[in-house]
Amino acid sequence: MNFTGAHILSIKQFERADIQRIFDVADAMEPYALRRKVTRVLEGAILGNMFFEPSTRTRVSFGSAFNLLGGNVRETTGFESSSLTKGESLFDTARVLSGYSDVICMRHPQAGSVAEFAEGSRVPVLNGGDGANEHPTQALLDLYTIRKELRSNGRSIDGLRIAMIGDLKHGRTVHSLCKLLCLFQNISLCLVSPKELAMPDYIVEELRSAGHKVTITDDLASSIGNIDIAYSTRIQEERFASKEEADLYRGRFRLNQSIYTQYCEPNTVIMHPLPRDSRADANELDNDLNANPNLAIFRQADNGVLVRMALFALVLDVADQVDNYSREVNWYNSLRTK
Ligand code: NCD
Repeated sequence: MNFTGAHILSIKQFERADIQRIFDVADAMEPYALRRKVTRVLEGAILGNMFFEPSTRTRVSFGSAFNLLGGNVRETTGFESSSLTKGESLFDTARVLSGYSDVICMRHPQAGSVAEFAEGSRVPVLNGGDGANEHPTQALLDLYTIRKELRSNGRSIDGLRIAMIGDLKHGRTVHSLCKLLCLFQNISLCLVSPKELAMPDYIVEELRSAGHKVTITDDLASSIGNIDIAYSTRIQEERFASKEEADLYRGRFRLNQSIYTQYCEPNTVIMHPLPRDSRADANELDNDLNANPNLAIFRQADNGVLVRMALFALVLDVADQVDNYSREVNWYNSLRTK
């Protein structure tokens, strides 16, 4: 695809070569993300960061990624502080706000809303999550993490064995990740969820049409024995009619160190898009896994900055200029030494 000026709305818009391009640019961002070097390549550029649903990692890492490229970030959070509460259409809002920014990131509770917004925008729009539909930048950082984590085991994305665990019906991260895996070969997926929260049929169909082996189950122990990646997800409480309904499923698939030791191969990598629900009645990934070197959740979150820097550099067409505007850093930063 031609990245310059493109909206990033869905995984469906990518081909395999595009993923390689994004990952190559992300790799080149590491000295900047680790503050060994700074670049001013986007000096003067403005990111409109518009989040109409709760977010920590996605919003802050989009902002940090833009700052690390030398650009400025303008934040809008919550409906109550925006004219959308006065009945303004997404199209009008986009038409106006795109005059104030060079690129826009957006999260919104309605499926399809970010694409609708992009239609009115005069600048590239990156989807930070539209309802239960998609979360394409998360899937890219997840796959980037999978690739990095598996490299030390001599395994690659083709041939991957992965279990996705939790609320697969409402989880937009797993929806986008499944679509992304369709670009690769010979993947075994075990989809572990309560029956009521199963992966949508159309996504299972797409996986099978891509030639992948898909197993659907509600039993965790029998699903995590022969896998490279255990990808756990949170019950998406905000997508249920009531908290009580979400409570029916909370805490059904807990992974802790003793379950890991009993059932998983020793190198199985544990991932989660975060936030993990650490309340006692949920505790989907126990804190006792924090000392497990295969718990990749924080490396995964760090990788989000690299992948989002790559996407900004590509859509604003500066990927090949980043180093021309760089210098060594002059302040102490402990990340640099790692
Ligand atoms: C996810 C999301 O918002 O879809 N979080 C994220 O972006 N890292 C997952 C979640 O909220 O459970």
